[in-house]
Amino acid sequence: MHLSQPDQKYHIVTLGCQMNKADSERMAGILETMGYSSTEEADEADLVLYNTCSIRDNAEQKVYSYLGRQAKRKHKNPNLTLVVAGCVAQQEGEALLRRVPELDLVMGPQHVNRLDYLLAQVFNGNQVAATESAYIEEDITTPRRNSLITAWVNVIYGCNESCTYCIVPRVRGIEQSRTPEAILQEVKTLAQQGYKEITLLGQNIDAYGRDLASSDLGGGVGGKITLTDLLYYIHDVAGIERIRFATSHPRYFSPRLIQACAELPKVCEHFHIPFQSGDNEVLKAMARGYTHEKYRRIIDNIRAIMPDAAITADAIVAFPGETEAQFENTLNLVSDISFDLVNTAAYSPRPGTPAAIWDNQLSEEVKADRLQRLNHLVNQKAAERSQRYLGRTEEILIEGINPKNPAQVMGRTRGNRITFLNENSPELISQVISLQITETRPFSLTGIRI
Ligand code: SAH
Ligand code: SF4
Ligand code: F3S
Repeated sequence: MHLSQPDQKYHIVTLGCQMNKADSERMAGILETMGYSSTEEADEADLVLYNTCSIRDNAEQKVYSYLGRQAKRKHKNPNLTLVVAGCVAQQEGEALLRRVPELDLVMGPQHVNRLDYLLAQVFNGNQVAATESAYIEEDITTPRRNSLITAWVNVIYGCNESCTYCIVPRVRGIEQSRTPEAILQEVKTLAQQGYKEITLLGQNIDAYGRDLASSDLGGGVGGKITLTDLLYYIHDVAGIERIRFATSHPRYFSPRLIQACAELPKVCEHFHIPFQSGDNEVLKAMARGYTHEKYRRIIDNIRAIMPDAAITADAIVAFPGETEAQFENTLNLVSDISFDLVNTAAYSPRPGTPAAIWDNQLSEEVKADRLQRLNHLVNQKAAERSQRYLGRTEEILIEGINPKNPAQVMGRTRGNRITFLNENSPELISQVISLQITETRPFSLTGIRI
């Protein structure tokens, strides 16, 4: 269905993770197919869409503050179309329509590819809430991608885990893998369009293929395709120079995957494997399904084969009941492993999740104190890890001009560190060049051409 909306403008605000960024690009693609053009100014748009995140309370609250302003504008401009998509939409559903009656459409992440259909209902005069669980239609839209060089490729939607703190399974639904054929087709199209790097996405990417039928490609249990098989299957698409994937789960992370990463030249030496806590009791209360010993073994295995691989992770501090000694186990893990980056957060109770109603919640003071101490250590370790690049030659895929300094171009190492080059040379964009690293900071580098 293509409802024509010529001369109309849309504005999308994207909060949250890479999944949401990928979803926003697909929704933008649908809107452009409908004839909308994009505007940077929310106040100029005929359609404003918030693609929301619910992972922590502060992420959720953002959308309410943005919405208030557009809801007011709608009183003066009744033709304004207001949409809330993403994880808060799924979490709140109809309740969001009651809270903000100016809204036209509330739609969960499983409905992204049906935006045009849902808008048709809106233009027929309905207020719509699309949050029923749905089989995600294969993506027939053409995403409007934000980069011309690097692209997200969804491989599995949803999550079947039950981590006791996490809202994701509730808002993203059960695991649904895309077929390897559909993924390969998307990668080929991206290569034809000139893309150089792809990132395969899944909340628990190690679950890829478990819900698909057995196939000739499958090297997993019962002949099912796994993430490792998928990497081999898509690896040779000409034009694509780098392949990344996220997010890995320590419970399912396989030794075969490490082998594949070491063997396949395009797969970058970077692993994002959240550990959440360095304490076994806390990991158990989180229902993560592994111990800190197992996590350490995974990292040892990676480093035995790829000593220089970048390792990044996520961690939560002040989970309900976490003692000072248990928190120190998280510090110990970070100190022992020396991560390149850790995304840290204080625990935030989420509606409908088990841990939210436990009676051993910690105070805001404890949360702030532990977060600050962990961040301090993470920065120190990241700075040490950055140091190892000094004087080395690194391959950098140049992705664009530094928005903060137009006299520089910027890109990333294979290990995913942002790297700047003090040259105003836009012709380098989209090329992989060798740079000698001359300066290091905890999370970025500077290099010169050699
Ligand atoms: N699927 C990934 C990450 C999903 S959410 C995984 O399993 O690791 C991204 C990160 O947000 C998580 O890794 C976790 O560190 C953090 N997070 C999730 N729920 C949270 C909560 N209730 N409070 C604080 N941080 C949370
Ligand atoms: Fe959330 Fe756990 Fe699933 Fe990750 S694996 S999305 S933390 S429930
Ligand atoms: Fe947020 Fe939803 Fe991603 S809750 S982190 S946008 S899966």
